[in-house]
Amino acid sequence: DTWTARILTLFPEMFPGPLGQSLAGKALEKGIWRLETMDIRGFATDRHRTVDDTPFGGGAGMVMRPDVVDAALEAATADGLKPAIYLTPRGRLLKQELVQELAAGPGLVVLCGRYEGLDERVIEARGLLEVSLGDFVLSGGEPAALALIDACVRLLPGVMGAEATLAEESFNTGLLEYPHYTRPAEWSGRSVPEVLMSGHHEKIRRWRQEQAEETTRLRRPDLWDAYRKRKA
Ligand code: ADE
Repeated sequence: DTWTARILTLFPEMFPGPLGQSLAGKALEKGIWRLETMDIRGFATDRHRTVDDTPFGGGAGMVMRPDVVDAALEAATADGLKPAIYLTPRGRLLKQELVQELAAGPGLVVLCGRYEGLDERVIEARGLLEVSLGDFVLSGGEPAALALIDACVRLLPGVMGAEATLAEESFNTGLLEYPHYTRPAEWSGRSVPEVLMSGHHEKIRRWRQEQAEETTRLRRPDLWDAYRKRKA
């Protein structure tokens, strides 16, 4: 019943990586979550431990074999852990909403792709949930898995110190965050906005709200539209 991230990868040495440090690393040591890696190569059956082959129809690069990946997924899901996620730029764009759903569940199985991709048939046969971090291309799924798991782990009960911070952050309010300042009050010819030094809590609250709204309007008209429709 401990939240579990089970990672299928050709590069198990990439883990825990940053997930062994800071907030996620401390939570891992405390036993709030578990991280398991499974080496896909361990499921290859031939003498050379082959995990990929050339694409039918020709073209550049290599494709991960469906039989090898399927055997790895069979082992990774044997205890019922789900969902099984395949990280790919072709997937559904990751939003905080899915992160919240994943963090509220038992954990996840993450398949990290390498090479040009994965044979489509294993995606279909296993009903893999395809997820993308954004409109850019990584050389493999591993850095995406690290990001996805980090986003989930920080939402687990007992991981973040101040729960108030969570309620205030963007994608809960629907706005980008207001700007932050700390000492020194004067730095490199730049001062901190006067209102933040005033001690007027209500004025500060209003200023932060205005800043959040203006930043969102200018930088993310899509979020701004959704926010206005939500309020109306
Ligand atoms: N693998 C390679 N690129 C990716 C991306 N943008 N999102 C998720 N997984 C990926």
